[in-house]
Amino acid sequence: MKTIVVNSQKGGSGKTTLCAHLAVEAERCGDGPVYVIDTDPQGTLSTWHEHREAETPQRVEVPLADLATALGVLQQRKATYCVIDTAPTRTDENLALFRLADLVLVPVRPSPADLWAAAGTVALLKQARIPFLFVLNQSKANASITAQAAAALSHHGPVAETFIGDRVPYAAAMTDGRTAIELEAKGRAAIETAALWKNIKACLHASMPKPSKKTEKVTAHG
Ligand SMILES: Nc1ncnc2c1ncn2[C@@H]1O[C@H](COP(=O)(O)OP(=O)(O)OP(=O)(O)O)[C@@H](O)[C@H]1O
Ligand SMILES: [Mg+2]
Repeated sequence: MKTIVVNSQKGGSGKTTLCAHLAVEAERCGDGPVYVIDTDPQGTLSTWHEHREAETPQRVEVPLADLATALGVLQQRKATYCVIDTAPTRTDENLALFRLADLVLVPVRPSPADLWAAAGTVALLKQARIPFLFVLNQSKANASITAQAAAALSHHGPVAETFIGDRVPYAAAMTDGRTAIELEAKGRAAIETAALWKNIKACLHASMPKPSKKTEKVTAHG
């Protein structure tokens, strides 16, 4: 099982939207079973999931302190991916969370404030040597600020090839527990989400496999 943590210190950068869309896309293209976990006290991802009619992705509720154990259980249940949403904070808890990740996604909007905040998030990830990938979110078509943001981010770390556009369906679809993919199966949001998921899988594949001692331990001790 691969664990994907989505984090950025900047509020509203698109963490929850990205978690929901990637988890649904992974299931849609046959990469499931996918689980989502909401570690943000705001509970936005959980609320989205409660409104959702479809049975996948599944969600587990787990206190932060028990997360490593829960991931071990999911692995035993043959989960393929676990996507974890986080709060927009920088705490010691985040570092513990990052250490459980095979990949941390850092959504960044192409704005100066988001770019400045990204540097802080990434400092922690680099220090802990955790693989991460920037995802440009809410990018404006043909706006030079998007290209500038991608260039600026690339000095700090890898940037996903696919940029996520600023599109109404991303927000609108989540109201009733769906995603833009399900709202418009052939829409631009669906196409770019599918492309981003491919980028992420390639990135996971390229990353050195991490020894999964944490999950082995959980398995061994029940
Ligand atoms: N690509 C997008 N296009 C249009 N709207 C978007 C997009 N991504 C996110 N949004 C909207 O931006 C707002 C913030 O998104 P989201 O809640 O996913 O951010 P967040 O990083 O999880 O926020 P928080 O830090 O508060 O947890 C929401 O209203 C969401 O619908
Ligand atoms: Mg959120």
